[in-house]
Amino acid sequence: MSAGRFITLEGGEGAGKSTHGVFIRDWLQARGREVVLTREPGGSPLAEEIRRVVLQPWDEGVGAESEVLLMFAARAAHLKATVLPALAAGKDVVCDRFIDSSYAYQGAGKGLDERHLAALEALVLGSFRPDLTLVFDLPPEQGLARARGRGDANRFEDESLAYMRRVRECFLRRAAAEPGRCRVIDAAPPLEQVRQSLRVALEARL
Ligand code: TMP
Repeated sequence: MSAGRFITLEGGEGAGKSTHGVFIRDWLQARGREVVLTREPGGSPLAEEIRRVVLQPWDEGVGAESEVLLMFAARAAHLKATVLPALAAGKDVVCDRFIDSSYAYQGAGKGLDERHLAALEALVLGSFRPDLTLVFDLPPEQGLARARGRGDANRFEDESLAYMRRVRECFLRRAAAEPGRCRVIDAAPPLEQVRQSLRVALEARL
């Protein structure tokens, strides 16, 4: 039995990660792999409950500190209940968002000091990292229009364009800093063209 691979999908709103996740799962299954498709925040009963809490609007507001702690609380539960057992059983895990989203949204977006993120990362992940991270890149204007067109906006999708630009820059910066782990996919072209880039990336990396 070959070891399971951990593949994470990152990017701003409306980049089509959920659709691409299904495509990647099917691509891996067609090659005989057992695959778990999951997401963050969420992916286990406890983590999904935290997701419900953290994504809804609160009259009192949600500070960046509360937000990051809830994201990492969900991540810890998800890793323990879902991700690590699947990888140990030799399955591939495809995860819609992971650690890079915390750096992008709570770090670059909300201005939390990266040292706090690194401390939480050390606590929750230790030395565990994705084998492959695909960053679906899209100008925020286009992403927000797509996300709003879907009609499933959460409070994160109400953030300003300047915030979304900082989020995008952070994803691109992290991808450039870790080329061995990350690959940027241009998510702006029509779906079939994005899938073609995705096939090329998967064939090269997996
Ligand atoms: P989704 O819309 O891709 O399901 O993601 C839900 C929201 O959660 C999205 O707006 C980004 C946000 N998020 C963070 O802010 N930090 C995190 O660590 C994660 C995993 C998600």
